[in-house]
Amino acid sequence: KRTAILISGRGSNMTALIRAAGEPDYPAEICCVISDQPEAPGLAVAASSGIPTFVAPRAGHPSKAAHEAEIQRILEQSGAELICLAGFMRILSPDFVKRWEGRIINIHPSLLPLFPGLTTHARVLQQGMRIHGCTVHFVTAEMDAGPIIAQAAVPVLPDDTEGELAARVLNMEHKIYPLALSMLASGKVRMENNRAVYVASL
Ligand code: GRF
Repeated sequence: KRTAILISGRGSNMTALIRAAGEPDYPAEICCVISDQPEAPGLAVAASSGIPTFVAPRAGHPSKAAHEAEIQRILEQSGAELICLAGFMRILSPDFVKRWEGRIINIHPSLLPLFPGLTTHARVLQQGMRIHGCTVHFVTAEMDAGPIIAQAAVPVLPDDTEGELAARVLNMEHKIYPLALSMLASGKVRMENNRAVYVASL
């Protein structure tokens, strides 16, 4: 399945997806990378892998709707069938999300439904959590609340800094995002009635 990746920054999850998609028999191919940030470091990484990259800054458009129309135009032009949000720091409108329902997924650095939103690692440390992790979920209109496809947990160690914890989680993100995209692209998971439904393989 042709898959677009939307980023705003570093793009380490994007890189993990590109690498996985380069493996024989992986069921998704990365057809384009779109960034809302012209300076996103991930853009150069994608380009060096030969993937078409596009910059769609919000500032270039009079409204959120116009910005999303531009993104939609790029997606159509690229023949995208699936979207992976990978550190894309904008909340997509309900209209956009509806159009892609069941075909758009996100990675979030916490064990949802715990810790939606930003600064998850700091809040996990503040709360004295002993485990933490990451979640790949279908994107719905409500932020960080769509049906869960895959999760991984990591320990919170006694003297962890925010950076150490973030790195431990990120390492797992890079494992479960390619796994989740593979499940979606091969039809092993789909969204139905706001649930993730798993299809047993033949
Ligand atoms: C990751 O922690 C991801 O879970 C969150 O934003 C961060 C993006 O990092 N949504 P990267 O750009 O993939 O390196």
